[in-house]
Amino acid sequence: MTKIGRSILALLNDVVYRYGDYDKMAIAMTLGLDSFFREKFTSLVSRPGRCTVLDLGSGTGRNVPFLLRHNSSIRIVLLDLSIHGLRRAKERFQQHVQVDLVCASAELLPLRCSSIHAAVSSYMLRQVRTCILARELRRVLRGDGVAVIVDFWRSTSALRTILLLTYLAVIVPLEALMLCPTSWHAYRRLWRELIRLPPPTQVSELFSRYFRRVKLFTFNNFVFLWVLSR
Ligand SMILES: C[S@@+](CC[C@H](N)C(=O)[O-])C[C@H]1O[C@@H](n2cnc3c(N)ncnc32)[C@H](O)[C@@H]1O
Repeated sequence: MTKIGRSILALLNDVVYRYGDYDKMAIAMTLGLDSFFREKFTSLVSRPGRCTVLDLGSGTGRNVPFLLRHNSSIRIVLLDLSIHGLRRAKERFQQHVQVDLVCASAELLPLRCSSIHAAVSSYMLRQVRTCILARELRRVLRGDGVAVIVDFWRSTSALRTILLLTYLAVIVPLEALMLCPTSWHAYRRLWRELIRLPPPTQVSELFSRYFRRVKLFTFNNFVFLWVLSR
């Protein structure tokens, strides 16, 4: 994505976080399975002791309660391009001293090499360049680190793709119109983001260039998951 494209995307995300109700939409988009998914994928990066977990494209910080449930002594770094998303997160978690907020791009992480024990990224992959994300993630992740990337997936089956595209192009905007009428138009572009996303096998190949182990899982027809370790 070009610099201008990224700025437009950041602006649209800001509109959603500022005027819309992203949290309600997250639940609607996953057909009520949002908490179930988050519980599952955050458990995969959970590890004992005082470690640092990075949430890339954290939005309003929906993963934080799940990460803390698995290990309450971790330090969490929430990183997002959207200042309004991070503001929502700040309102929510200001009493948690162990949550740091960073407004920056996941494609150029302002973090030291090998400083992160674990990373999670949910529903951001389709908005970034996969190979640049993989390279940056590899750089900041420790040698024994683990990362989990979750997003909708573009199936190689034509029927599944049509079903998912119809869902994202018709049902999700309608849900948005009811749940967050002030920013519903932002959800009209979801299907275009999905089309841009390479198929899961290609994403796995890209990650394999930077990570020794790449595992691919699916929870249902919607969500794909990559677990990476160095
Ligand atoms: C669909 S939201 C997902 C938010 C959150 N991860 C969740 O699961 O609810 C995608 C988020 O990725 C962020 N994002 C998109 N491109 C980014 C980039 N290059 N760097 C950091 N964040 C980015 C957006 O600002 C937005 O908050």
